[in-house]
Amino acid sequence: MAKLNVNIDHVATLRQQRLGKTPSTLQAVKFVEAAGADGITIHLREDRRHIQDFDVYAIRKIVKSKLNLEMAVSRDIVAVALKVKPQWVTLVPEKRQELTTEGGLDVYGQKKKLEKLVKIFHKNKILVSMFVDPDLKQVRASKETGADFIEIHTGTYADAATKTARNKEFLKIKAAAKTAKLLGLRINAGHGLNYENVGRLRKLDIIEEFSIGHSIIAEAIFTGLRSAVKKMIKLVK
Ligand code: PXP
Repeated sequence: MAKLNVNIDHVATLRQQRLGKTPSTLQAVKFVEAAGADGITIHLREDRRHIQDFDVYAIRKIVKSKLNLEMAVSRDIVAVALKVKPQWVTLVPEKRQELTTEGGLDVYGQKKKLEKLVKIFHKNKILVSMFVDPDLKQVRASKETGADFIEIHTGTYADAATKTARNKEFLKIKAAAKTAKLLGLRINAGHGLNYENVGRLRKLDIIEEFSIGHSIIAEAIFTGLRSAVKKMIKLVK
């Protein structure tokens, strides 16, 4: 059975709009875990646009399932990760101008550097996942760095404009996952997954964990909006 990791970055996105205390990321962790999720994912971005350093430390203390810290390969963020010691880190590329992570990490192009980093994380008992496009060269390179997992970038599959394009991308994901399995890597997948497109990947029966954020938080607005309005109506009328 596949597992679900919920990315709660967008709870922090909403909080940072007002630079206040609500909605609380800690409360989000409690709700997500109470609902039965298998893990919590947060991304400490270099520009700190949503999750802040204090979130990372506070969340680490209360997480009962497991914490996956998504992070760029940058000295400052690595230092935070080594202090916080989440159960695992997912290494992602990061650009300041992007709206969200736009593609997989070029593991092949920086294999030596990543190999050293994986060793440091392993010494600190932190598992490492490489967020890569469904590209066999990147999958093999991930194995060579000593990483434990790959997380296959599913954004192109999710955003495909036509059925043909989506099928093509699905087949790439399938091939990447099969190759990763043969190499002995553990396989996660994420980005852009929602209630419509996750089922087909689930059926591959090869992906261990799905990392999903935006669609769940978007759905939560509408599953919660009715009762939130009713609660305020009671106070106002
Ligand atoms: N996995 C990675 C590596 C990501 O960067 C993100 C977005 O932060 C996700 C999964 C979750 O993507 P989404 O919010 O589109 O579900």
